Amino acid sequence: MYEKISTDIEHLRKLFVFPESQDKFLEFGKQILDMMYKSFKQKGGLHSSITLDELTSLFSDISIPRDPQLLRDIFPEIENKIASHSVKVYSPYYIGHMTSAIPYFTILIDMIISSLNQNQVKIETAKASTFVERELLCWIHRLIYQKSAKFYRETVQNHRVALGNVTSDGTLANLTAMMVARNLLFAPDGRFPGIARAGIAEAYRHYNCERTVILISKRGHYSFDKIADTCGIGDSNVIKIPVDTGSNKIDLNILRKELNEIEAYNQNHEQKIKILSLIGIAGTTETGNIDNLYEMNRLARKYNTRFHVDAAWGGPVLFVDDYSHLFKGIEDADSVTFDSHKLLYLPLSMGMVLFNNQKDLQSLQHTTQYVVRPDSRDQGRFTIEGSRPFAALRPWVALKVIGSEGFKLLFEKAFTISSYFKTQIDIHPNFESLNDPELFIFNYRFIPVKIKKHLESLISENSAETLKMASRINSSLNEVNIQLHRDIRNNDLSFVSRTVLESTRYAPDEIVVLRAVTINPLTTTSIIKEIIAEHNKLGLKLFNKSYKKRFKNYF
Ligand SMILES: Cc1ncc(COP(=O)(O)O)c(C=O)c1O
Repeated sequence: MYEKISTDIEHLRKLFVFPESQDKFLEFGKQILDMMYKSFKQKGGLHSSITLDELTSLFSDISIPRDPQLLRDIFPEIENKIASHSVKVYSPYYIGHMTSAIPYFTILIDMIISSLNQNQVKIETAKASTFVERELLCWIHRLIYQKSAKFYRETVQNHRVALGNVTSDGTLANLTAMMVARNLLFAPDGRFPGIARAGIAEAYRHYNCERTVILISKRGHYSFDKIADTCGIGDSNVIKIPVDTGSNKIDLNILRKELNEIEAYNQNHEQKIKILSLIGIAGTTETGNIDNLYEMNRLARKYNTRFHVDAAWGGPVLFVDDYSHLFKGIEDADSVTFDSHKLLYLPLSMGMVLFNNQKDLQSLQHTTQYVVRPDSRDQGRFTIEGSRPFAALRPWVALKVIGSEGFKLLFEKAFTISSYFKTQIDIHPNFESLNDPELFIFNYRFIPVKIKKHLESLISENSAETLKMASRINSSLNEVNIQLHRDIRNNDLSFVSRTVLESTRYAPDEIVVLRAVTINPLTTTSIIKEIIAEHNKLGLKLFNKSYKKRFKNYF
């Protein structure tokens, strides 16, 4: 099948840069670009029709390839077995997840990142790129914290302080913020060397601590469960505060009550409950809503704890002045997470975590003799991760090519599309909207008009019996929407995702919702119209075929 070539050191030597034969690099480079260009232009569905079982058998070779093969023989394999069976996340009809279209130039930037192959952990392998990374961190820090120009001029390249870290993703940015919070909460104290040195058991003993908790809304990203596990406080200590019905923002009354209860407990007990951090969300994963950051920050100050804002999704929307009121309070947060592979439209993946206090990251400092020496400029001194690529080049370039004004326009367009989507669903007889899409994430469900009217009258009657019937209807509608989601997926003309919300107007009923993330600049209002028409057609077909009889029992 493949041309057999000998295992020959001369052949292998030529694979490395700079290849002896430079034209091979250019020739193959062109071939790859052509291949990807062709795959972008491919017509058809969003997913290939290959089944998961077929993919299993395509990729079940259990042996490491033994003999070298020619690159040109591998390309068809990449094209036919991988590229053609990848999800077309760049399609304007693919509006199901936070992963969307990327600007074409960023693909080329990734070639530069790989070609330079800088390792950001230390300046010995990342010279100019260390400074680029710091400059980028300064830009984003300023976008969030808006300190004086003097402050930024003094800190941008001052290696004795750190405005933040570049991380592999949002999860690691959140983890970094929580590790800093942990190390500051259980800081060195007298003979106690701090939790980072002594470990959690000794820290709890020293500080008379029974448990440490994180407070976040029920809409919080599940990364905080992983983080609580990783940093040793245990994921059962992530306290999930309910959200206000409909708004999906943390219920401040319940948060206050929880904080008061912790305070009262601590007054009466020798062993204390410590609060690692309050977490505000600027763009919830499921619903795209922003917590009341201003009030949360005030509560964090009142209860003497830290305030972290997870703006992995919504952070870039700070470019839009008209929406900055939604983020009020973020400028006082102790730390903020910001992803570049979400609303900066960049290829996966890169996150950032920014700190209000430029000394905070010193609590994570680790140094060795062979890398990240104490007073070096090595970016790896304060990072949890070790080797890291020069991913910062992507946002650094994109912010120049698109500019904050350009991003503003992209977000204004995204706002228009999600508002249009909601309006169309609101006036549609067979759908209902189930959230207010502040940041481009819209939840809705299919509900045939007759059922909608009946449900409304049952709820307005408001008796125990009618509410029980309403719950039964909602439960059946959940089944309809799960199946509809499968049908949409199988029809393969468009894609939305699906989740379950306990926070809709039907609370406490849990409602299955379809979730549309409308950020792709190529998605137009007429595409949204087409998508709604398709979902309506599939919904009616499904309902009439499989559910009509059952729903008759509810009247
Ligand atoms: C609000 C929020 N925080 C954190 C994350 C985690 O980001 P990542 O997937 O980059 O680790 C996500 C991902 O969807 C998110 O929506």
